[in-house]
Amino acid sequence: MFIPLVLLLFFLQIVIFLSSSAESATIEQGKPGCLTKCGNITIPYPFGDYGEYCSMIEDDAGKLYYVYCNTSFEPPKVFLGMNGDKIEVLSISDTEFRVKNTAIAAKCYDGRTGKLVVDNPFYNLDLGTTPFTISYTKNMYAGVGCNIRAGFYATSRGCVSKCANKADIVEGSCSGSGCCQINIQKGLNKINESIENATSEFPIQSFSQCNFAFLVETGQYTFQGSDLQLDGRLTKPDMDLPVVLDWAIGGRSCKEAQTISSDFASDKYACKNNTVCINAPDNPGYRCTCGKGYEGNPYLGCQGMQIVYLPENSLDAF
Ligand SMILES: *[C@@H]1O[C@H](CO)[C@@H](O)[C@H](O)[C@H]1NC(C)=O
Ligand SMILES: *[C@@H]1O[C@H](CO)[C@@H](O)[C@H](O)[C@H]1NC(C)=O
Ligand SMILES: *[C@@H]1O[C@H](CO)[C@@H](O)[C@H](O)[C@H]1NC(C)=O
Ligand SMILES: *[C@@H]1O[C@H](CO)[C@@H](O)[C@H](O)[C@H]1NC(C)=O
Ligand SMILES: *[C@@H]1O[C@H](CO)[C@@H](O)[C@H](O)[C@H]1NC(C)=O
Repeated sequence: MFIPLVLLLFFLQIVIFLSSSAESATIEQGKPGCLTKCGNITIPYPFGDYGEYCSMIEDDAGKLYYVYCNTSFEPPKVFLGMNGDKIEVLSISDTEFRVKNTAIAAKCYDGRTGKLVVDNPFYNLDLGTTPFTISYTKNMYAGVGCNIRAGFYATSRGCVSKCANKADIVEGSCSGSGCCQINIQKGLNKINESIENATSEFPIQSFSQCNFAFLVETGQYTFQGSDLQLDGRLTKPDMDLPVVLDWAIGGRSCKEAQTISSDFASDKYACKNNTVCINAPDNPGYRCTCGKGYEGNPYLGCQGMQIVYLPENSLDAF
């Protein structure tokens, strides 16, 4: 079969075009002059440092978008900018944030004296001022302890873990013997975790001195019987308990946001040029994506994908 040279060169040009466009696909995610990278985490607009220019600061539901970079860490760490509540960000995508869980309720006793030594039976996590909800598909609630009920309020849900003897503890499983778990409801941005007695039996035994209630990304916590003997800190220095948070703009649907859109910062429709608005499936609110054939950051405006024609002589080498 004879392939005309011209055709061959044409294909070659396509190959070169495809490989070069893959390279130039690094999207300008943040605004120039703003915090766009902290450590190895890229921060896409509408998130950014404090200031109206750099982050969307506040949307039509009063949710806050700024994050801050603490450079006293090596590498620097990103934190959510809410109320001094230091929630560390582990990764950011166009639909979710993965954060480090610090919301762990704990109650621990001294195994010998029976004295309560760690007494934080409640932990209140309130994301009400942020555009985040707790992902109900990617996290679980877990309770660790013997004869405890781990409660997760806002809802009246909880789970019970019982173990009368050390032999009752089932390693590696959260099935109600040393560890229990339940799934999460859709759309929550607040929880109050609590540890309660499940029975009138004394919950503390030599093999079980600590109880915990916490939220964690499904699959990222494996129960170990020895966790019942920790001194109140479920997380060890080499371990993160990640939690996945979904984000969406505001409390309005696409249609409402487009209708209400005004010049007020808080009423500005967030999807910019050449974008498509999508109602968020798990949150009240919406998200933006680039329209077909466009690329970039939809909250800043998308641009047409550029087709680069190679100059004639660039193929001379062949
Ligand atoms: C950032 O670096 C840490 C440690 O070096 C690593 O565990 C993590 O996966 C990195 N995150 C990203 C988004 O590359
Ligand atoms: C940054 O981290 C350091 C070390 O943990 C801490 O002392 C400091 O207060 C943090 N900075 C801010 C602005 O929170
Ligand atoms: C959390 O729940 C406990 C138990 O129901 C309650 O006593 C406590 O006040 C709640 N805390 C918050 C901040 O809602
Ligand atoms: C739970 O049990 C412990 C030990 O018996 C007891 O000291 C504590 O008061 C009980 N707590 C509640 C809320 O009943
Ligand atoms: C968006 O489109 C309008 C009209 O086509 C144009 O005037 C404006 O400069 C564009 N904005 C950006 C940020 O590209």
